[in-house]
Amino acid sequence: MMDSMIAKVLVSAEEIDELTTRIAAKIDEDYSGRGDKRLVLLGILKGSVVFLGDLMRKLKTPHEIEFMKVSSYGAGTKSTGELKIHLDVTRSDLGDCDIIIVEDIIDSGRTLSHLVRYLKERGAVSVRTCTCLDKPSRREVDFSADYVGREIPDEFVVGYGLDYDEKYRMLPYVGVLAPEAYTGSAE
Ligand code: PRP
Repeated sequence: MMDSMIAKVLVSAEEIDELTTRIAAKIDEDYSGRGDKRLVLLGILKGSVVFLGDLMRKLKTPHEIEFMKVSSYGAGTKSTGELKIHLDVTRSDLGDCDIIIVEDIIDSGRTLSHLVRYLKERGAVSVRTCTCLDKPSRREVDFSADYVGREIPDEFVVGYGLDYDEKYRMLPYVGVLAPEAYTGSAE
């Protein structure tokens, strides 16, 4: 049943199943025969966890998981271009790792462009990026992900890991939040 605060379903559970299957198959194709390098899916907390879990179950390629929690500062703040790291990868063998950063959504592009640079500086063998959703119309820096589930318009979306005020992450689909949900008039 659709949550009463969801105005419409943008990406159904069925479509999510299809896009995760497609991306996992492409990753399997791209990362076969890499010798003894370790494939690491790096989930960016918190939004990516549901997507990451689905990819893990669909990938045939053996892989490991790590997590980071970060926030990027947008243009107009004192720290433009900076990445604030709240939780970092502590392992010291990134020189043996092919990394795929896993995100729920790309908006300005700042988080992923900073993270790719950061992980290369840390010595990762390779760094690719994978996002479930992409809002290209919101880009502030030139960035495109290697694996994209679905481009979406600039609407306020929640579900499948994405939140509003920490709510709605558990919905099995991506929906557009009804305006009442953030104006508070229906609660
Ligand atoms: C979201 C998303 C990305 C980032 C994308 O995280 O998960 O990490 O914003 O935005 P950008 O392309 O403009 O950098 P958020 O800060 O909402 O945290 P959450 O995943 O914990 O909800």
